[in-house]
Amino acid sequence: MADKLQAIRGMNDILPDEAELWERFEDTVTGCLKSYGYRGIRTPIVEPTQLFRRAIGEQTDIVETEMYSFADALNGEALTLRPEATASVVRAAIEHNLLYAGPQRLYYSGPMFRHERPQKGRYRQFYQVGAEALGYAGPDSDAELILMTSRMWDDLGLEGIRLELNSLGSSEERARHRGELIAYFLAHEASLDAVARRRLHSNPLRILDSKNEGMQQLIAGAPQMVDFLGDASLAHFDGLQALLREVGIPCRINPRLVRGLDYYNLTVFEWVSDRLGAQGTVCGGGRYDGLIAQLGGKPQPACGFAMGVERLIALMQDAGESAAPWLDAFVVHQGERAAPLAFRAAEALRSAGFDVVLNCGGGSFKAQMKRADASGACYAVIIGDDEAESGEVALKHLREERPQERVAMDGLAARLAGMMIDSEELS
Ligand code: HAM
Repeated sequence: MADKLQAIRGMNDILPDEAELWERFEDTVTGCLKSYGYRGIRTPIVEPTQLFRRAIGEQTDIVETEMYSFADALNGEALTLRPEATASVVRAAIEHNLLYAGPQRLYYSGPMFRHERPQKGRYRQFYQVGAEALGYAGPDSDAELILMTSRMWDDLGLEGIRLELNSLGSSEERARHRGELIAYFLAHEASLDAVARRRLHSNPLRILDSKNEGMQQLIAGAPQMVDFLGDASLAHFDGLQALLREVGIPCRINPRLVRGLDYYNLTVFEWVSDRLGAQGTVCGGGRYDGLIAQLGGKPQPACGFAMGVERLIALMQDAGESAAPWLDAFVVHQGERAAPLAFRAAEALRSAGFDVVLNCGGGSFKAQMKRADASGACYAVIIGDDEAESGEVALKHLREERPQERVAMDGLAARLAGMMIDSEELS
């Protein structure tokens, strides 16, 4: 017998029941993005490996160990399945001179790939919805991004997602902080674990992110970035906090929030939920003023975020959200003369805006009515040879005790609309 074929570990099928909730999520979130003037952009899933190495940073977990990279079998080109989309959006904006027309508010949605150890909320193929504000320098655009995400949580009916905020300053300020950090950790080298020792000179900031219990006291005493911020960085940070206070969004300043990608400066933020176990960050982002120039564009400031769709869907499910299949009508029919009429009835209803399933594959009336019931439809449209003879159809409410009605084929859509209004008024 052939081996059973299965999806790759850490890569999930989203089956129809869940896909409906995904669609509702996507509609809500994109509706919100559009209401803030964001416009869609779609970039390829495969990019030159060099793009991510340069944008995300050679010494990050993503680039060091998590990228799905391969050589193109035909021409040997080094390619990578995108682990995130900020680098791609910036590449596309440079390649197509998007910023010549002025600053751009862009959003995207789609799968990303990281070869991480799969667990609840952490997958190898996962979906992000992200927004990038290219060409905006002030804390007002950071605040707007945060305000927009906060509105999304409200629109999705999600509660208890908290905002964590930090500033990483300028590259010079970070370099000074980095020097002090290395000196501090070197002085306590014996207390560092193997990962931290490896990161000591390459990416000491990431040591602050360590979950190792035994190192927490050491980390708590480490030099903090905020003490290295100059006047301009402090003004940006204070400006953002003032705006957040103004719009009523509480936040916690977390001096250890460093993020896993190297392109950030000044603002970094994460939205975190306590209901998801270890993978509680549902959205992360910040400012990346150096990235456009670093990838070959004219220097321009920028900021953005990306949210993890699986994690937010899990929160929606946790909050009791489910998307019941919704169908207005199911057309059952039997007999040679009834079949073409059934097609006409279903098409007429669809033209009037109803969602309709037409019974395919025959079956007795009884069997078809069972299917109609299981479909979740509100109404059955019933057509037998009798009805076909008189150019009429029968309409039956499947969820309420109501007498079945016979209506003329021509008036079917109008009558169904009328019946729906009646039952809304009754309920
Ligand atoms: P990130 O923090 O790497 O940032 O990812 C953003 C979000 O994607 C995370 O907060 C999490 O919800 C979700 N996520 C990340 N990895 C996984 C995974 N393996 N499984 C499930 N969900 C995951 C970025 O990707 C940046 N590009 C965000 C950004 C946009 N910064 C500026 N602009």
